[in-house]
Amino acid sequence: MAAKSYHLWNPFTVMDEFLKTKDFGPLTIVRGEGPYVYNARGKRFINGFSSLWNVAIGHGREELVEAAATQMRELAYASCFRQAHPRAIELAAKLVDITNGRYQHVYLGTNGSEAVETALKMARQYHRQSPDEVDHGRYKIISLRHCYHGVSYGATSTSGLKSDEEKFGPLLPGFVQIESPYCYRCPYGKSGYPECELACAQALDEKIRTEGPQTVAAFILEPIMGAYGIIAPPEAYYRTVGEICRKHGVLFIADEVTTGFGRTGKLFVSEDWTPAPDILCLAKAISSGYLPLAATLATEAIYQRFLGEGNQFEHGSTASGHPVCAAVGLRNIDILISERLPQNAATVGARLIDRLRELANRRTQIGEVRGRGLMIGIEFVSDRETKEPLTEKATFNVLLDLATLGLLVYYRRNIIGLLPPLIIDDAIVDQIVDAIDTALDTGLKASVARKARLAKEFAASKLR
Ligand SMILES: Cc1ncc(COP(=O)(O)O)c(C=O)c1O
Repeated sequence: MAAKSYHLWNPFTVMDEFLKTKDFGPLTIVRGEGPYVYNARGKRFINGFSSLWNVAIGHGREELVEAAATQMRELAYASCFRQAHPRAIELAAKLVDITNGRYQHVYLGTNGSEAVETALKMARQYHRQSPDEVDHGRYKIISLRHCYHGVSYGATSTSGLKSDEEKFGPLLPGFVQIESPYCYRCPYGKSGYPECELACAQALDEKIRTEGPQTVAAFILEPIMGAYGIIAPPEAYYRTVGEICRKHGVLFIADEVTTGFGRTGKLFVSEDWTPAPDILCLAKAISSGYLPLAATLATEAIYQRFLGEGNQFEHGSTASGHPVCAAVGLRNIDILISERLPQNAATVGARLIDRLRELANRRTQIGEVRGRGLMIGIEFVSDRETKEPLTEKATFNVLLDLATLGLLVYYRRNIIGLLPPLIIDDAIVDQIVDAIDTALDTGLKASVARKARLAKEFAASKLR
């Protein structure tokens, strides 16, 4: 393909670097089948991060193709503004059902950012409509530093990152952060749980008090921080932050865009939390990425505040509850549940974590293996004692070698993320571990041989 014909502006991509390497096969995926994707040369890769953490049931499921085609023939589009259609009604009911009736009302959207944006606006409007006037001043959103909730201004403002502020600030006012529950590198300098007495969770109480409880609308968290490096707090963390929210009348929002629909071995991480979150954000695996779909679920108590003469939730977009996306979502959820994919993620994921921890006994570059189910992070270090992170460049070299070995993974700084489709089996687990074992040898030697191998592997690739 001539360079000039490339007009795509890739999201979150360093274009200068990408354009130098875009003809490399792994970067142009042309086909998918089950847990694998194929490049233009026909090389097969284990889809080690489920394309973008979303293709839970794997590629190529005809049932979803069929669901979309049938729905398009019947009714390609209808809006949910002051009207409805069967698929949106059925999908909302299905989501209420599989969350065990904890939530009673479902707003449908198209992506995770929208699910979060919806939750944030819902939380603010909820307080604005409180019968108690003292709540009307609640607008602040508390979140975890380095969280990722999406790209819209509200979602971006939750992260409170200096780099975002510099690039397109000012971010929105009223967004404040507490440090994240990153046990391996505790931001509070503690030695570990339980000795730390969950200082990271107690920080929420402190933050609400200093901000002024009557100014805080909601606290939002990812049950396992994905983009930051698969950071999973101790179980007790969830109860503690939930109780703190309750105590201060602050809404508790769980963003399960990544963790939802079985990724961690349970259908939802928050399914048995007490207190339960007030709002649940879902996307990604809700449709396994086959079509854009998202949902924001609210409790009965929240919904009740939006009733009454002339009152409505001031929110919605053209594709909210799109019938074709809803039809695909419904079929996808049926497959996830009937094929017991959350259970598979639990079993196969436990094996993967065990095998990676065994590997860590031999490979000193592995500082920590963490996560749950099939949401696993491996943090690389150059020195285990000091936890000095492996450089990003060295981690990238490991990633390149993994690609030549036929495994695509997520990476960020010195961390790689494994979030394969929930359909993988023990044989694929073993291939993943073997590939990482090999890449830790070859990938960390910036040798001529490595470069030659990469060149041979990729350079002949042709874009189609
Ligand atoms: C936890 C979380 N929330 C929200 C989002 C945003 O989702 P989307 O990219 O579909 O807008 C993401 C995306 O990775 C995510 O990981």
